[in-house]
Amino acid sequence: MGVLSTIVVAFWVMLPAYVPNNAAVLAGGGRPIDGGRTWGESRLLGDGKTWRGTAVGTAVGTGLAVVLNAIAGDIGSVLGTTLPTFPLAVALALPFGAMCGDIAASFLKRRTGRRRGAPFPVVDQLDFVVLALAFAFVAAPGWFRETFTIEVLAAVLVLTPILHVGTNVIAYWLGFKDEPW
Ligand code: CTP
Ligand code: MG
Repeated sequence: MGVLSTIVVAFWVMLPAYVPNNAAVLAGGGRPIDGGRTWGESRLLGDGKTWRGTAVGTAVGTGLAVVLNAIAGDIGSVLGTTLPTFPLAVALALPFGAMCGDIAASFLKRRTGRRRGAPFPVVDQLDFVVLALAFAFVAAPGWFRETFTIEVLAAVLVLTPILHVGTNVIAYWLGFKDEPW
């Protein structure tokens, strides 16, 4: 696979993990997952992690994976490359893993004294990728090994922070997010 195809596949296969966080920003609000509970001085997770944001984020990511499955053939032939499709277990695991990674990062932020919205470089950019990949691996190990070659994984690790910073800056400019990270 050429470099360009590798980047296209990496982007495609991670789309169901990229979109949930942005959907959660738009859908957020309502009851926080931690129900206001604290651990030590700080909230367990904070008001930025809600049931609604998590549920909508996961559902949007899964819905997107189903849509991508339907158009993979056509888009693939236009681009001249074979695009992977998502088994149902993966269509659920990628977005749910992404949401859980983001939640785990908030847990770590609160334990390290960072307030809601405080930046946590590197963790903010990669938290969701690590758990999305881990959940996808558990959901479908064979599919995972076939799809996430070393080259694709490398592309994901380079591409993700760039896309994450870019989309968050845009969401901030558009007024959807309180901070540009
Ligand atoms: N959001 C949500 N549920 C989630 C994730 C995000 O409702 N599981 C919504 C919240 O409204 C949140 C916004 O999306 O404020 C932005 O998400 P994020 O930047 O992850 O949260 P922060 O508010 O910055 O909080 P934290 O410091 O815990 O990351
Ligand atoms: Mg934040």
